[in-house]
Amino acid sequence: MQTITLKIPATTPHSYPIIIGENILGKTGSYIKQNTKAKKILLVSNAIVYGLYGNIVKQSPINEEFEVYFLLLEDGEEFKNIKSLETIWTKAIELKLERRDALAALGGGVIGDITGFAAATYLRGIDYVQVPTTLLAQVDSSVGGKVAINHPLGKNLIGNFYQPKAVITDTSTIETLSGTEVKTGLAEVLKYGFIEKSCGLSGFEMTFTDYLDKNRKITPELIKYCCELKAAVVNRDEKETGLRAILNFGHTIGHAIEKCYGYKGITHGQAVAIGMRGAFILARNRGLVGENYYNKCIKLLDGYGMDYKINKNIAPELLYKTIQVDKKVISGKIRFVLPTGEGIVDIFNDIPEKEVLDVIDCLY
Ligand code: NAD
Ligand code: GLY
Repeated sequence: MQTITLKIPATTPHSYPIIIGENILGKTGSYIKQNTKAKKILLVSNAIVYGLYGNIVKQSPINEEFEVYFLLLEDGEEFKNIKSLETIWTKAIELKLERRDALAALGGGVIGDITGFAAATYLRGIDYVQVPTTLLAQVDSSVGGKVAINHPLGKNLIGNFYQPKAVITDTSTIETLSGTEVKTGLAEVLKYGFIEKSCGLSGFEMTFTDYLDKNRKITPELIKYCCELKAAVVNRDEKETGLRAILNFGHTIGHAIEKCYGYKGITHGQAVAIGMRGAFILARNRGLVGENYYNKCIKLLDGYGMDYKINKNIAPELLYKTIQVDKKVISGKIRFVLPTGEGIVDIFNDIPEKEVLDVIDCLY
């Protein structure tokens, strides 16, 4: 078992553990007990994840003498909305959850983001715990406290920064993921490779992409490595006043794609993979990276099967308009995170419309 302690910000006593291990779901109850004062726990999940892991998790809090309740939401990005959020609030009120009680999110990034936002808002904030079961959620969304729902006009536009009390990551849950969902998580894993040096963490014996190439499979060490990179960024900029935006590499175009698809028919990781390709093309066109590094990264994306294209039904102009409501926009200017060297990215806010449209054209 490996535990990372995330301190946010690093200089204050506030901290929470990210507990990473194989077959640890059965200990969920004791981890919740160690990290909250809850007497009642509302576990939020969906039918798929509950069917696979509900019983193991449910038994464990009962052993710890909690009152445990389950709420199953509909499955899918299109349900990461105000209605699902309200369903959680209503259940919490019906169960008379009090301020010291807690929510727990058992599932992927969708369940994690909505449940975290429900915890941030119910009774002005109660504790919650993340129990991520997708690769994407284990390497990214369960860590760092971004909680949100989608709005019909834009992705993740309604949300908060609200840290969990613990993240309980059972890496064996990724064995039941479909190939598509593994690849979706891999897109965020590759993202860390592209931003690695800008994360401000040193001490690993090889570069991220070399590590991936050497192992050719997801290991608990890899998941820990991603969480450490993310923690290094979040510790320095919890509320995204600057540096944290680098974690959104590939997301400016990616989020707009998801919105244009109506949050259906494309996964978050697929959209981010297209967005990262767009960022590399934009950077090459601007001379920010040389041909060699550009080709290496495009080869990596292709090699991991991330050669997705945007559906031709989506007009480039609509995509561009959607990018303009991205959360990172400042004074009306779109901001892009672009590569400027091997594992290095920077933030740019002066990209003319034509340059962006030229790149978008290459993504169909
Ligand atoms: P998801 O939550 O929709 O899960 C993908 C699918 O896998 C779902 O059908 C789910 O039911 C199923 N599933 C979950 N665990 C399973 C398991 N162990 N075995 C079999 N099936 C399983 O998608 P996701 O990729 O996990 O998360 C995407 C979401 O995360 C997006 O909404 C994105 O915006 C968000 N996100 C948030 C952050 C953050 O910092 N908060 C970071 C990255 C992404
Ligand atoms: N996934 C982006 C962030 O956590 O900031």
